[in-house]
Amino acid sequence: MTDNTRNTVEQAQAEGKYIRTIKSFVKREGRLTKGQQKALDQFWPTMGLEHKQGLVDFKTVFGNDNPVVLEIGFGMGASLVEMAKNAPDKNFVGIEVHLPGVGACLSSADEAGVTNLRLYNHDAIEILRDCIADESLTTVQLFFPDPWHKTRHHKRRIVQQAFVESLRTKLKMGGVFHMATDWENYSEHMIEVMDSTDTFSNIASKINSDANKTNVFVERPDSRPLTKFEQRGHRLGHGVWDIMFERVK
Ligand SMILES: C[S@@+](CC[C@H](N)C(=O)[O-])C[C@H]1O[C@@H](n2cnc3c(N)ncnc32)[C@H](O)[C@@H]1O
Repeated sequence: MTDNTRNTVEQAQAEGKYIRTIKSFVKREGRLTKGQQKALDQFWPTMGLEHKQGLVDFKTVFGNDNPVVLEIGFGMGASLVEMAKNAPDKNFVGIEVHLPGVGACLSSADEAGVTNLRLYNHDAIEILRDCIADESLTTVQLFFPDPWHKTRHHKRRIVQQAFVESLRTKLKMGGVFHMATDWENYSEHMIEVMDSTDTFSNIASKINSDANKTNVFVERPDSRPLTKFEQRGHRLGHGVWDIMFERVK
């Protein structure tokens, strides 16, 4: 399908045309540890959200009107739980396809005494499409998404125009899409995709004073905890790129 035959995803959907959506993950069948299983049994009924519930009203889910931060692909959830603990005045929603990660996150959330967190165990692309109301999020976080190193696999990277467009509508105006990656080529791809739309503006251009706007990245904000993996990377001299774009249209 070329761009000549399909102007927008919405148009193609409206015309009933088949669209091959990207699959940004490989389902790992990793076993659940006893602790993860126990956490799922104990906490999923209160902290789990299901795709089949359809559109959610966060005010009802959390019992308050606090700003909602959505994290896509939280892994084992260590940084998500820390963020939720550090910001009790915000609500956090995490999406992860890997069930052991969900179990680990529930277990850490319980240990940390976190109550402002809910989780989905499902493909984030479908959750965004079917469950998240328009203009309901203040932030979307995507930290260290699978980089799909090989060029022939780049199409599986989650950051693509259609994905960005679907999350744009879920953000409030002025809401932020925050990405981080340790893969330079992916950081360039992220910037390229974000620059190709006029609906987002790069926050780096507000913060960085260089007149030529050559620095398109931001420093890691204090709100994003440094992961163990990242600390090790720092010691080995590896880079990490933080990218923040704000919804302007
Ligand atoms: C490289 S890991 C990074 C995990 C975590 N953010 C971190 O920084 O440690 C990427 C994660 O994204 C998850 N993932 C990839 N595509 C996803 C999707 N479409 N929906 C939900 N989770 C996804 C994977 O299962 C994996 O756990």
